[in-house]
Amino acid sequence: MPADPTFRTDALIAEDIDAYLSAHQAKTMLRFITCGSVDDGKSTLIGRLLYDSRMIFEDQLSALESDSKRVGTQGQEIDFALLVDGLAAEREQGITIDVAYRFFATEKRKFIVADCPGHEQYTRNMVTGASTADLAVILVDARKGVLVQTRRHSFLCHQLGIRNLVLAVNKMDLVGFDQATYDAIVADYAAFAESIGIERFTAIPISGFKGDNITARSDNTPWYDGPPLIEHLENVEVNAANDAEKPFRMPVQWVNRPNLDFRGFAGLIASGTVKPGDAVRVLPSGRTSTVKSVVAFGGDLAQAQAGQSVTLTLDDEIDCSRGNVIAAADAPPEVSDQFEATLVWLDDEALLPGRGYWLKLASQTVTATVAEPKYEINVNTLEHLAAKTLNLNAIGVAEITTDKPIVFEAYADNRSLGGFILIDKLTNRTVGAGMLHFSLRRAQNVHWQATSVTREDHAALKNQKPLVLWFTGLSGSGKSTIADAVEKRLNLMNRHTFLLDGDNVRHGLNKDLGFTGADRIENIRRIGEVAKLMADAGLIVLTAFISPFRAERQMVRDMLPEGEFVEIFVDTPLEVAEARDVKGLYKKARAGQLKNFTGIDSPYEAPENPDIVVNTVEMSADDAAEAIIRKLLPLR
Ligand code: ADX
Repeated sequence: MPADPTFRTDALIAEDIDAYLSAHQAKTMLRFITCGSVDDGKSTLIGRLLYDSRMIFEDQLSALESDSKRVGTQGQEIDFALLVDGLAAEREQGITIDVAYRFFATEKRKFIVADCPGHEQYTRNMVTGASTADLAVILVDARKGVLVQTRRHSFLCHQLGIRNLVLAVNKMDLVGFDQATYDAIVADYAAFAESIGIERFTAIPISGFKGDNITARSDNTPWYDGPPLIEHLENVEVNAANDAEKPFRMPVQWVNRPNLDFRGFAGLIASGTVKPGDAVRVLPSGRTSTVKSVVAFGGDLAQAQAGQSVTLTLDDEIDCSRGNVIAAADAPPEVSDQFEATLVWLDDEALLPGRGYWLKLASQTVTATVAEPKYEINVNTLEHLAAKTLNLNAIGVAEITTDKPIVFEAYADNRSLGGFILIDKLTNRTVGAGMLHFSLRRAQNVHWQATSVTREDHAALKNQKPLVLWFTGLSGSGKSTIADAVEKRLNLMNRHTFLLDGDNVRHGLNKDLGFTGADRIENIRRIGEVAKLMADAGLIVLTAFISPFRAERQMVRDMLPEGEFVEIFVDTPLEVAEARDVKGLYKKARAGQLKNFTGIDSPYEAPENPDIVVNTVEMSADDAAEAIIRKLLPLR
């Protein structure tokens, strides 16, 4: 049979590629971030790293391939200046989206560089890049020294848990490779670093443009005896190695049950090691068991460690589901529902203290509310400022409460169990990122007390099903009048009711609240809690509040058992409510004497799927009340 050259070549390549890939896979991976502005030579440095490592990946090569100005022969020489230009242009395009990630590799290690814009308005991009980085290269222009932005970037990296910092004093060629200049910058930075708790950093004098101290020690800096940058990046210890030494934790991503004989818990090991026979505890329940097997692709493992994705089987059939954390039995992480945290705000719409956001931490998702910040941090001077909210890119410290206990660790000890994001429930946007500091003591000291007479007993005695009839609509829409008419009818039907009305409640329970967004949220939260207590007591509760935000109306719905919350939209157009102007408030608002007036300079978010709508243009208040009663019937 004649030899098939095509086949032979393919086989050879296959062999080579296997060998190549396995050598490649055995390499550790370092994720790092570069900080500094374009002026500091960040693009030049990244270009230099890619260029000098000569292992530019396909996508970057092919992007350059199409450029006619490209010099050298195919696939061999790449013009350095062109590469840098290309990188800068690409980053500028990506600037508003996120972070540009670059890949390169040397003989020893694989690298992912997060290239983030440096200006203050891009803090959120930097936070994204830094949150997964093992190391940060802080670039300083040797002619300028430590600047405000050097401090801001260092502070952010430190806050985000990066413990390996490289101070790259760049453009040394432009200061004649002067040692005194370099030493002064390093001393200046050391003083600053110490003041914010950075324990150590590695300083390297470089020229990204000329290539000094990048791959090899430069002859221009005989006074420098440390490693060149790439060598340092190749040898620095990565987080995964540290994480393996901590106690075992694995957030459960999903439960794998292909048949009745197998029930496995799959997840990424956040820290520590695990092997068959290990005693483990499932949190938050606290139940204990023993690891039966550790399964990965390709079969059972004798042991697995931080950074590996595995499936665990346990000796006992204990409850364990997505969001739970399997941990070392004798060193479990904490469980709490109240925390102090550092928050970075990532959305154009400011933080609304009191609003319920989705909080995602590892594989856990809960509802969380953030209190008014204790302070905001001026990222340039690191001063603490008083703040009522956090705007885009602001960083502050605040207390956070979750609706269910979560399993966590301080971010400083464990990034995957201490770092979280906040998501707006309506828009699904990621609005904040945070780092947990510690659990607040009161969370541990307040326990739910079980009572003997249940809400069912209360309702049964009154011979009715509790309800919350939640009227919402503009000021002057007719909520109070209609709610009153509905209550009158229910009363005649021997129902036990109670009407909570906006203006009345604002005279007592909520007299400390005004009409800012945060105060309105707190207003509704309290009314919601009161309505829930009254429903627990067996009552039919009627509430008449503007309640302008969808999120808080949803929050109250979520507090109550399914079917007990009835949203009634009193649909009166602004023009009609304004023409009525029963209390003269619209006139005042138009005259600028009343700020934050709903419908004028404060929003009203109409219900999207109200349970009942009444139109007060076509109907009298009595007719509207009749219509509502008819909709509610049969009432039990
Ligand atoms: S809510 O927005 O927090 O739900 P709530 O229903 O308690 O408002 O109070 C609204 C009532 O307060 C209005 O009917 C009106 O009489 C009065 N009021 C005073 N200032 C304002 C304002 N800026 N916006 C809306 N209502 C106001």
